Amino acid sequence: MNPGDLLTLNIEKVAHGGLCVARHDGVVVFVRHALPGETVEAKLISLAPGKRSWFAQTTKVIRASSHRIQPKCEFFKADGCGGCDWQHSDSSFQREIKLQVLVEQLERFGQVPNASEISSVNSVEPSESNWRTRIRLVANEQGKWGFRKNRSHDVQVIDKCLIADNSINDVLKNLPDGNPDDEVLIVKSKEETVVYPVEQRAPSAPNAIQEVDGHDFAVAGDGFWQVHPGAASALSSQIKKSIKGLQVESFADLYAGVGVLAHSLLQEFPLAQGFVVEADRSAAQNAKINLKDFKNVQVVSNRVDRWIRSVKNKFDVVILDPPRSGAGQNVMQQVCNQTLQKIIYIACDPAALARDVLIAMKYGWKLETVVAFDLFPQTHHIESVAILVHE
Ligand SMILES: C[S@@+](CC[C@H](N)C(=O)[O-])C[C@H]1O[C@@H](n2cnc3c(N)ncnc32)[C@H](O)[C@@H]1O
Repeated sequence: MNPGDLLTLNIEKVAHGGLCVARHDGVVVFVRHALPGETVEAKLISLAPGKRSWFAQTTKVIRASSHRIQPKCEFFKADGCGGCDWQHSDSSFQREIKLQVLVEQLERFGQVPNASEISSVNSVEPSESNWRTRIRLVANEQGKWGFRKNRSHDVQVIDKCLIADNSINDVLKNLPDGNPDDEVLIVKSKEETVVYPVEQRAPSAPNAIQEVDGHDFAVAGDGFWQVHPGAASALSSQIKKSIKGLQVESFADLYAGVGVLAHSLLQEFPLAQGFVVEADRSAAQNAKINLKDFKNVQVVSNRVDRWIRSVKNKFDVVILDPPRSGAGQNVMQQVCNQTLQKIIYIACDPAALARDVLIAMKYGWKLETVVAFDLFPQTHHIESVAILVHE
């Protein structure tokens, strides 16, 4: 097998990362822009890491899935934008294959035998287009703005993005050319849509306001905030559901950002004693502002792994929402030992979630349910709320 070879492939199933799995002479091929059940002609692009499997790009659909649709974005093509993965699939099937990936990761890396029974997926409006409230653009050699192509440093110049909010596309239309390799973030907040230069080690941008279910949250304009406009509300209401029936007197919100998840718990239990832990200083400062009405809450500006080593408290509930890499052995061990009732784990990567669930199982916890939310339509990403309880 060599780069450039054209193969006819029967697509078996979806793989993590927005690709599909096929086999050629027993060798696994990860195929882009295909769908499970299809037969496609695909061009081999390169060996995958580990050099035992290949990446390939669909060049012709020989037998199409009934879920295949015509992509709406002109930049969704073999040599085009690397941002979206599933524009060639109808949106309900996108959710189905994301759920398959979640279940597969939980079975494989989490050793959760009943993963398919306890996992589900929901859509959140807007569920197809114009949902992104921030985009990050890079300038090409001529200073024109666009997104990186798939597995490449090349830039696909764009004049609009199908999945971005209309106000972002309006700003993009009038954005003056940059210098080669400049990067900008265009962010929509409650009041305005603003362009931020992305500079190494730049201080945080001034605060913007983001609104969730009638509550305003201060957040640095370029700081972490879920990209889907319905995300914070969907996650908050899932947290509220999962603590119904509990008596929560103490809690910790780890990797807390500006405190939006702690806020949802505090709406139900305003007197709960809580620690809200966030490493980014400006996010922690904003968490203090956002949670100032709750007198029993202490915002800690520290890394979770450092903080948790020094804490002896037990918590009725721990919410954790780590970055893509997950929480890892040490944090999970401490969380398991210090939580009395429920662990609520918010995950943006099913593989990291599965690894952390496996750790929790070693310490006597079991995965009760996983509710996923499709907060990233057209891409392979998915956000999950996993509930862990004592075995
Ligand atoms: C996925 S975000 C979640 C933010 C928040 N829970 C929300 O819903 O908006 C992860 C957060 O963890 C923070 N973070 C990353 N590594 C950390 C660490 N080791 N300790 C504490 N916070 C960390 C990031 O700054 C970011 O705010």
